[in-house]
Formats: sequence, structure tokens, C-alpha cells
Amino acid sequence: MKVAFGCDHGGINLKPVLLKYLQEKGIEYIDYGCFDTASTDYNEYALKVANAVKDGECDKGILFCGTGIGMSLVANKVKGIRCAHCHDVFSAKMTRLHNDANVMALGERVVGPGLMIEIVDAFLTTEFSNDARHIRRVEKIKAIEEENFK
Ligand code: RB5
Repeated sequence: MKVAFGCDHGGINLKPVLLKYLQEKGIEYIDYGCFDTASTDYNEYALKVANAVKDGECDKGILFCGTGIGMSLVANKVKGIRCAHCHDVFSAKMTRLHNDANVMALGERVVGPGLMIEIVDAFLTTEFSNDARHIRRVEKIKAIEEENFK
């Protein structure tokens, strides 16, 4: 599995914690920035990560900003991206099982490093259920994209 990672200045303090976790787990990743604490726009990094997942360069994406909200709003504008904004382990697990989410957004101002790792771990290790009803619902999301996205 290859993970695309992106953050803005509001999420940069969690970044080393996440990258250490990925390294320890032997999970390959691409870091799309940002790379310092200077104020920057979350849009750029969310778009890079979302495109990396959409284009198949990476299998899943993880995004950090202050709240996770801006990142998730941008990522969900990219066709094929189902970005879940999660701050608890149950939701992270369920969004994989039920929604086949391929990107996750978290807020550094919402969760601490310990909980973040638990959430990310649930997201990366839970497979889509492949239940017919969940496949049907994800297909309906894709149908909306076909109608509304370029
Ligand atoms: C930056 O101050 C903050 O607005 C950003 O990180 C994010 O929380 C936006 O949704």
C-alpha cells in the first residue's frame, strides 16, 4: 500500500508522528507537503493528495489541517475521492467498511497524536465490506459524480 500525505501549517505538528508510524509499519508514502510552519492554503495539499489517489499513484490519502474540514471539503471535490472527516476510531473503521473511503482528513486542533494514530490505523487496516448494499450506495455516489463532475 502507498499512502499520499498532505497537511497545511495547521496540521504540521502531527506530521512527524504519522510519518514515524508509517515507517514503522513499513507503509510506503509520498509527502506532498507542506514542509514548514508558515501559513499556507490547505487547498493546494488536499488537491495534490486527492489527485494522487484519483490517478492511482497512491492507494489512500491522509490529510491534516487545523480541523480537517478544509482538507475534506477540497478532497471531496475531486472525482473518485471519498474523503472521510473522522475524529474517532469507530467512524474511521465504518467509513472503510461501508463507504470505501479512500482519503481521510483529521484536525490537529481536535485530536492528539495518540488518538490520531489509532484513527489512521483503523482507516488503513480495515477493508471495504463488499456487501451488496454498500456497493450499491457507493455506486450511487459515483453516479452523482458522473452527472455533476467534469
Ligand atoms: C488554518 O488556520 C485553518 O483554517 C486550516 O488549517 C483548517 O483548519 C481549515 O479548515
